[in-house]
Amino acid sequence: MSERYIVFTAWPYCNGDLHLGHIAGAYLPADVFTRYQRLRGRDVLMMSGSDTHGTPITVRAEEERLTPREVVDRYHPRFLETFQKLGISYDLFTETDTENHWNVTQEVFLRHLERGYLYKDTMEAFYCPHCKRWLPDRYVEGTCPYCGYENARGDQCDNCGRLLNATELINPRCRFCGGTPELRETEHFFLDLGKLNKPLLDWIMEDKEHWRASVLNFTRAQVQSGELRGRPITRDIEWGIPVPVEGFEHKRIYVWYDAVIGYFSAPREWANIIGDPEAWRPWWQDPATKSFYFIGKDNIPFHTIIWPGMLVAYGENLNLPYDVPSNEYLNVEGKQLSKSRHWVIEALDVLQRYDPDPLRYMLTVNAPETKDVNFTWDEFLRRNNEELVATWGNLANRLLSFAYKRFNGQVPEPGTLDKLDRELLAKAGQAFTTVGDLLEAVKLKNALMEAMALAHEANKYLNAKEPWKQIKADPQAAGTTVYVGLKVMDSLKTLMAPFLPFSSQRLHEYLGYDGTLLGRQYVEEVAEARKKHLVLRYDDTDLVRGWEPSELKPGQKLRKPASLFKKLGPEIVEEEIARLLGK
Ligand code: MF3
Ligand code: ZN
Repeated sequence: MSERYIVFTAWPYCNGDLHLGHIAGAYLPADVFTRYQRLRGRDVLMMSGSDTHGTPITVRAEEERLTPREVVDRYHPRFLETFQKLGISYDLFTETDTENHWNVTQEVFLRHLERGYLYKDTMEAFYCPHCKRWLPDRYVEGTCPYCGYENARGDQCDNCGRLLNATELINPRCRFCGGTPELRETEHFFLDLGKLNKPLLDWIMEDKEHWRASVLNFTRAQVQSGELRGRPITRDIEWGIPVPVEGFEHKRIYVWYDAVIGYFSAPREWANIIGDPEAWRPWWQDPATKSFYFIGKDNIPFHTIIWPGMLVAYGENLNLPYDVPSNEYLNVEGKQLSKSRHWVIEALDVLQRYDPDPLRYMLTVNAPETKDVNFTWDEFLRRNNEELVATWGNLANRLLSFAYKRFNGQVPEPGTLDKLDRELLAKAGQAFTTVGDLLEAVKLKNALMEAMALAHEANKYLNAKEPWKQIKADPQAAGTTVYVGLKVMDSLKTLMAPFLPFSSQRLHEYLGYDGTLLGRQYVEEVAEARKKHLVLRYDDTDLVRGWEPSELKPGQKLRKPASLFKKLGPEIVEEEIARLLGK
């Protein structure tokens, strides 16, 4: 039985296009990790979906004079297109406004209620007498009671990251009219996190060596403080999943409670789609299955406290998160990304001008793994031209073209290998351990740098051997060099495949192989009684597996090569900055 890995990413709010911060923070690292695990031959599922509920969607709907569902219908297909173009290979990317997700959410709610982890209580909530409406937490703004930040939202402070209740804000304001809202009594269900404090503490104090320090320290501090209190999980709103309890017809389940349940409902939807409704069980109930949650740092408490608490409250031995590799932020040209301040690079937009691999390269080599990072177009240009094109692409192109033209379109028969030949092949073999270990530990940036180091070595080797000169004096020696070079190229193809799947696929073809390293993604329509929805699926039927050094054989027929990457002109820097500034 191969090892099982279930890889999740945060469910993006379906209220606007995805930008490079989302991609670098969650979706791309999850994909790199997943592609590596597939190559290793492990059983992997990668899942997520659109977060369709909550005030982020209704705020947008009000701004655009659409219904919330119309907002989802506009952006969800664009998410699918983004992931397809960037090669983010979800086995299933669905959404939360589906019958399956509603049913699973209500089932979890009722089970929590039955097992005594939910209680009903009245609470004071904000009501704006001027706007004549209840104000969900996100519709209230004010000063954070913990850090003093003046523009904290009622649900969470963007400055210190703490989760808040809007009533804790100092000087609360109505988001619509800026007026002072008043507190009124309302009845809601609460998740009893106090009761979950002890099991959560036991779990979080277990061995978590493999967790990122920032995630672990934040979570341990919160859980150890013993301050976990009940959190309301229903709201006085209209858009959301109905509360399956009499008397609550006009209330809805809170978006964060339903969204995290997506991690549980998506594998069930997948099991139904593949026609084996019980197939989700080992992914959730086999204790040997490892679950990974790739998220941005603002989502940490939901994934390391609330969701694990909900899982404990559910019972049935559902697996708690194995790792939550949370990333820091990506700034652009020195400034924080912000939709409202019009400082964004949307992924779909840049994909019209650039190939996916250079973007994937840049966002991995400069990944916000341990600190906020700065994306600049200048660096993008430099890394594309100096690293992808000059180091890796030219190496492949030089060697493949030479082999194709001078060795009859096939891998030459080598003579005796000398010291340089053997050393390079040994380094290529060693790289599978070095790069693999780093990928296993979710150190993707260092893993990519190690793979690039091998490309540097291969360049040095070719410059030392100069097969284009060797061929005149000693064709046999040139054949040996080309053979060794192609073998290392073939190994590099595999080592690079998690990061740069599109160019690795082409290299795979040039080297004369069949089968796919890239896999096939497609959009499928799923019909349910209530409505139809679109999902993204990944087909790995012909996927080539094997995280191991090349076994390229002399005589293998090559295909006509072309260059893997395009050199970019320096003018793109100014052009892109002008675009960013809206010029
Ligand atoms: N929609 C949230 C956001 O964009 C993330 C939800 S993650 C989930 O911040 F798992 F809870 F769905
Ligand atoms: Zn108001």
